[in-house]
Amino acid sequence: MGEVLLVIDAGTTSTRAMAFAPTGTLLAAEALPLTQSYPAPGHVEHDAAEIWAKSQACVATVIAAVGGPERVAGIGIANQRETVVFWNKRSGEPLAPAIVWQDRRTAALCRRLKEAGEEPGVQARTGLLLDPYFSGTKIAWARAHWPALGEAGDALAIGTVESWLVSNLTGGVHVTDATNASRTLLMGLGSGQWDDGLLALFDVPRASLGTIVDSAGEVGRTTLFGGSIPICGLAGDQQAATIGQACLDPGDTKATFGTGAFVLTQFGTRVPVSQHRLLASVAWQIGGRRAYALEGSVFVAGSLMQWLRDALGLLDAAPESEALARSVSDTAGVYLVPALAGLGAPWWDPDARGTLSGLSFAATRAHIVRAGLEAMAHQAADLKRAFAADGADWATLRIDGGMVANDWMAQDLADVLALPVERPAFVETTALGAAMLAGVGCGLFRTLEEAAAMRGAVERFEARMTEETRIARLAGWRAAVERTRS
Ligand code: G3P
Repeated sequence: MGEVLLVIDAGTTSTRAMAFAPTGTLLAAEALPLTQSYPAPGHVEHDAAEIWAKSQACVATVIAAVGGPERVAGIGIANQRETVVFWNKRSGEPLAPAIVWQDRRTAALCRRLKEAGEEPGVQARTGLLLDPYFSGTKIAWARAHWPALGEAGDALAIGTVESWLVSNLTGGVHVTDATNASRTLLMGLGSGQWDDGLLALFDVPRASLGTIVDSAGEVGRTTLFGGSIPICGLAGDQQAATIGQACLDPGDTKATFGTGAFVLTQFGTRVPVSQHRLLASVAWQIGGRRAYALEGSVFVAGSLMQWLRDALGLLDAAPESEALARSVSDTAGVYLVPALAGLGAPWWDPDARGTLSGLSFAATRAHIVRAGLEAMAHQAADLKRAFAADGADWATLRIDGGMVANDWMAQDLADVLALPVERPAFVETTALGAAMLAGVGCGLFRTLEEAAAMRGAVERFEARMTEETRIARLAGWRAAVERTRS
């Protein structure tokens, strides 16, 4: 058997394949961008066929780069979560666009369900809240608006992105892993099974859903690249990053700053119950046993830098933000609240909209860009307060994702959170976590603890901001957030 662990990281803005040695060394990588469709305000769609075609192309390139399929021990998949794909089980063809996690089209439906008093029961069963973010209301909307789904009859298949990729890789195996299933609003968090009451609430036929499986272990094999390669690791990308950051003990916490920012605290085998508007999800399921995580999801992080660059022209390239932030000593009173897709945790306000406030003639492009970067630490501070109130305060924060290459931002996080912040030398922790799961799933490692040696060295940022500055910044932020609320 080969020893290479091959990963598909099917993210929001790109699909990538990466190959790792069991030591954690990256051997090869390929990435292709994904088309984003915005057919109406608040609607965000992907083409499922494109996700598959680009994943397949990236995998083929990486397998060739490592010397052929016989060198590969197994495939792990990490994916953008909540995004929902509809396809025909018999033909394997998509039946409709994929509705992306950022999509807000079900805000009115969520409001109606909340007004009908459904939220406490939904939260108790799923660990989630009634927000358009999650798959359940997206499926309800699609079934009400897209006749092709009903016309497919019992050939209708519904799944998150890992489910869609496994089906394509294997020629029809229909499974979903417990981490992804825990983000749909359809799975009982304690049971790890689809919940009939929730299926009825969101009008989802049980037969359209895949079987819920472990995050590590063989679910099928692919022969599309020559040879026969097992698919043996599956996880939502944020759970994969939690594993890739070796957050294996209760209390260990990571924050990924990608398109959005997602903070997960490992909670152990007890189901977390949040009293402060955080989410409870499956961190991983192995051998039928689940570990859980408490999560704070922020919808806009790296996408803010893209928006400052593409829509406002304030940046030539995202990395320029670091030099601009360093070129001024503060924001001159400017606050940018990036509620461009509503507000996620802990506010959960889908109708909130972004604000730029505190502008005076002293404000320059550098101040506005710095305010955008400072918003990352401010949003993290809101989450930290909620985690602490839920009895899960953070001792250290392990950061990753595209944005954290920015040293200024890493230091600002340490300063505003008043915590040591750790950044691994290799920041592709999502892919690394999927490789660790695949390594356990194909028997290269016995446990995740053993696989965690793949993580490698970390760099530490210590807090050095004065208490007075920290308090003043957060007070100004709080006032700015109030101005965004609907
Ligand atoms: O919950 C959404 C999350 O999984 C998206 O992650 O990395 O694709 O922005 P990313």
